[in-house]
Amino acid sequence: TRRCNGAATPAADRLSRLATGHADDLLGAICLASRARKLIAPAMNSVMWEAPATQRNLELLRGDGAIIIGPESGDQACGEVGPGRMTEPEDLLDAIAASLAGGAAVAPGERTGAVPATVQSVALGDGPLAGRHVVLTAGPTREAIDPVRYISNHSSGKQGFAMAQAALEAGARVTVIAGPTAASPPAGVRVIPVESARDMHAASLDAARDCDLFIAVAAVADYRPAVVAPQKLKKSDASDDGMRVELVQNPDIVASVAALADGPVVVGFAAETEKALEHARGKLARKGLDAIIVNDVSRQDIGFGSDHNAATLIWADGERTLPRQDKTDLARELVAELAARFAERLSPGLCAS
Ligand code: PMT
Repeated sequence: TRRCNGAATPAADRLSRLATGHADDLLGAICLASRARKLIAPAMNSVMWEAPATQRNLELLRGDGAIIIGPESGDQACGEVGPGRMTEPEDLLDAIAASLAGGAAVAPGERTGAVPATVQSVALGDGPLAGRHVVLTAGPTREAIDPVRYISNHSSGKQGFAMAQAALEAGARVTVIAGPTAASPPAGVRVIPVESARDMHAASLDAARDCDLFIAVAAVADYRPAVVAPQKLKKSDASDDGMRVELVQNPDIVASVAALADGPVVVGFAAETEKALEHARGKLARKGLDAIIVNDVSRQDIGFGSDHNAATLIWADGERTLPRQDKTDLARELVAELAARFAERLSPGLCAS
């Protein structure tokens, strides 16, 4: 149920009550008295969704093993735009089916009767990433020039969301830090919406602290305007030979995550238009990555915006090329290959977080 008219919002209230273990109504009592896996599909006003209290409650519920489905981003009944739309019923059904298919899921204490207090993340399924937390970046970033203009690129977020879907299917708990995109994230992943490279950098470092595998799919703007004009720039602000915007470098997100002590397995993407393998190997070494996935973004039939892609996965002492195919199928192959290649660091099971 969604209400944006200032009245109490049942979904936000319910999250709070579930997070703190209220048992004074039927649903609260059933949830407390059952060890069954809990799937929660909240929908509410976007500001309520982003409120620190709501996000704290969600973290508590996730820590208890609940799976949060959605919400989606877009137009809301109240006229606002942002995260909080209810996940489409077909996607809800898919998420429920995927959860049931992963029959090995357990709630804390269910299987053994005694799970150490430090174990907070639990296996959600049988896949090769069961019990693991995968964090991805997806989509473009936007670097403001003035209140109405920005620098960005053609990333649609489709490849990032396809990788998130594949990680989810492999049993992982999945967080996607997504730049502005019209694509819908898969049901069942946590989405942290961001705008700029610096926002994405901060959110990534925060999420990477509790993460086993970090995959940087986002097309991050390497540069941003040194100064954001407080008012819309006017033609009269330019000189006769045009207008100059000074750019400064953005932080390198994936390199920062790779530099963390005791950090996750870190995988980058490389968007290349020439000498793809050579440039990708350079990025693998320079950014300190465990692996990199290179795609040719000069082709119209794959890469930016397309539903299809082709890529070569490169790691320290080998590589595997995957032909053009649907981005979702490609993502499944890539995730399976990464899970196998880094099995020692990503093997299934309970993980302390
Ligand atoms: O979103 P789609 O339309 O589906 O398109 C998918 C894609 C083409 C965007 C995707 O497959 C892809 O290639 N993503 C990487 C895009 C990119 O920015 O590549 P890069 O070669 O410039 O960067 C190399 C790596 O460093 C990437 O993992 C990137 O996320 C990361 N990076 C780059 C700059 C920066 N400041 N911080 C970063 O973390």
